[in-house]
Amino acid sequence: MVLKGCIFDLDGVIVDTAKYHFLAWQRLADEMGFDFTEDHNEALKGVSRMASLEILLRVGGIVKDDEEKIELATRKNNWYVEYISRMTPDEILPGSIDLLTRLRSEGILTAIGSASRNAGMILDRIGLRLMFDAIVDGNKIHSAKPDPEVFLKGAEELGVAPENCVVFEDAQAGIEAAIAGGMKCIGVGSPLNLGRANLVVPDLKHITLNQIKNL
Ligand code: G6P
Ligand code: MG
Repeated sequence: MVLKGCIFDLDGVIVDTAKYHFLAWQRLADEMGFDFTEDHNEALKGVSRMASLEILLRVGGIVKDDEEKIELATRKNNWYVEYISRMTPDEILPGSIDLLTRLRSEGILTAIGSASRNAGMILDRIGLRLMFDAIVDGNKIHSAKPDPEVFLKGAEELGVAPENCVVFEDAQAGIEAAIAGGMKCIGVGSPLNLGRANLVVPDLKHITLNQIKNL
């Protein structure tokens, strides 16, 4: 492929915020009186805040009206923001900075494509905002992954056609979104969850520019 742009999911690809999402959802489940495990949490990755809450409530067998749902999601987000407001650049995942630096030195454009409404705050905390030519987050989109909107908007903001973009994703919903958007995608994590990606790597340390170009 002719590689012109790389679009990165944020949570679980560039930075390990998945553990903070999990802690905050678990705390909410605990208050409601049920167990919420790491296995359950897998289904929440890449999924928007309200869709995540729906999954959590299903796990607990709990029914809430719309007003209560907004209150619960706000409570979870307040805890989450409290956790991420203490993040440092040490929490950037292995290989991220090297890969971004390499891509940019080759003239390949970089973007964030994240469902999170907290993406800007995270990028500021870890000091990586300037590594991206475009940042598309949950505040800019209407349809969550697996809808391709977030990645298509990322490509558009970069001024690059979808077929010249590669997406990096740690969530099943994100892989589906990349495929639906007509983009190649690299799964970051386990092939067990990310089998539909063109290539799966354990982290960004284990990928070379040639591998990306040869997708
Ligand atoms: C990312 C995470 C999800 C999270 C979503 C919304 O995609 O992988 O676990 O639910 O963002 O994040 P937010 O910070 O807006 O609640
Ligand atoms: Mg993710």
